[in-house]
Amino acid sequence: MMPHPVSLTAPPTMSRLGLGCWPLAGMTRHGITRDDAIATVAAAIDAGITHLDTAYCYGEQGESERAIRSAMEGRPRESVFLASKCGIHWEAGRQQTVDGSPTRLVAEAEESLRRLGTDHLDLLYLHAPDPSIPIEESAGALAQLVTAGKTRSVGCSNVSLEQLQQFAAACPTSACQMPYNMLQRSLEERFLPWCQLHAIGLVVYWPLMKGLLAGTMARDRQFPQSDSRHKYPMFQGEEFQRNLDFVDALAAIATRLETTIPAVVLSWTMQRPGISSVLFGATMPSQVSANVPALTCTLDAPALAAVDEAYRARGPVAGRRAVR
Ligand SMILES: NC(=O)c1ccc[n+]([C@@H]2O[C@H](COP(=O)([O-])OP(=O)(O)OC[C@H]3O[C@@H](n4cnc5c(N)ncnc54)[C@H](OP(=O)(O)O)[C@@H]3O)[C@@H](O)[C@H]2O)c1
Repeated sequence: MMPHPVSLTAPPTMSRLGLGCWPLAGMTRHGITRDDAIATVAAAIDAGITHLDTAYCYGEQGESERAIRSAMEGRPRESVFLASKCGIHWEAGRQQTVDGSPTRLVAEAEESLRRLGTDHLDLLYLHAPDPSIPIEESAGALAQLVTAGKTRSVGCSNVSLEQLQQFAAACPTSACQMPYNMLQRSLEERFLPWCQLHAIGLVVYWPLMKGLLAGTMARDRQFPQSDSRHKYPMFQGEEFQRNLDFVDALAAIATRLETTIPAVVLSWTMQRPGISSVLFGATMPSQVSANVPALTCTLDAPALAAVDEAYRARGPVAGRRAVR
């Protein structure tokens, strides 16, 4: 199917680097205070990272959206690009549940607006397709939210290419949000070319692979049950060690360019053709400070060649969520 031919709104303008507000709600690991969360958002905005990415389910009680609201106090609404998502909620026992029914999507979007203290979003995504509901029905609910002025644009996330095509045929689609990083590039095969061809912005998450590529993880690091990274093969055993070998190669690049490892990683990701915006998560202002040099760091040809060489040496990674 072809994307919807008419756009209801102008394409959104979002900063190329965005703050992903999942971890600051204590979702990757516990122990993030509300003050840390607010200070992290404020540090990002102050540094010019004005694309803020959140979701109805970031925090069991909307902690992420509430932290953004607090960080926004005293700042003009139009100084940030606010993106949220609907379609996933929490049920008892910390159980994430997908519900893409139109009624539920509208109710979640309205609750997100209340938590954020604004009357409109800049971008609202369907967080994930609901297998029990045709994706066109979910898309139709989001299109109605554009018409009602609740969001300026619409996108979808965690879709297959076929699902994206169905979504885009049912609703003007500005953006699609998918996982992508130096080690997990399956997006490049079919997804990215299709988005480029149809002018759908590609927003990527996990650029730091949940901190693995930030360059601060010790080789003997253990992830307790309260840290969701214990579930990912990339943080376990031999896989973890090989990933840290890859990070050692990045450290050499960062040293030569006199910048930080996350700046190398984020800059590389931003430089990839077809990527509209790169979302990194952070749990404290100092991480934002370490990542901000990505805005001014340009990887030269030797640096790009060194990344390619390290990637070849690393070989295929064990991971979840390959993009098809
Ligand atoms: N659409 C979706 O379904 C979906 C799914 C996943 C993510 N996302 C979005 O994408 C965003 C990015 O993904 P993510 O936050 O999961 O992963 P990420 O950006 O790859 O990694 C973020 C984590 O890396 C660590 N970190 C960041 N900067 C660091 C630094 N300078 N030094 C050391 N550690 C650093 C922090 O972890 P610690 O402090 O805990 O070590 C932080 O929580 C999310 O926040 C969310 O907005 C969307």
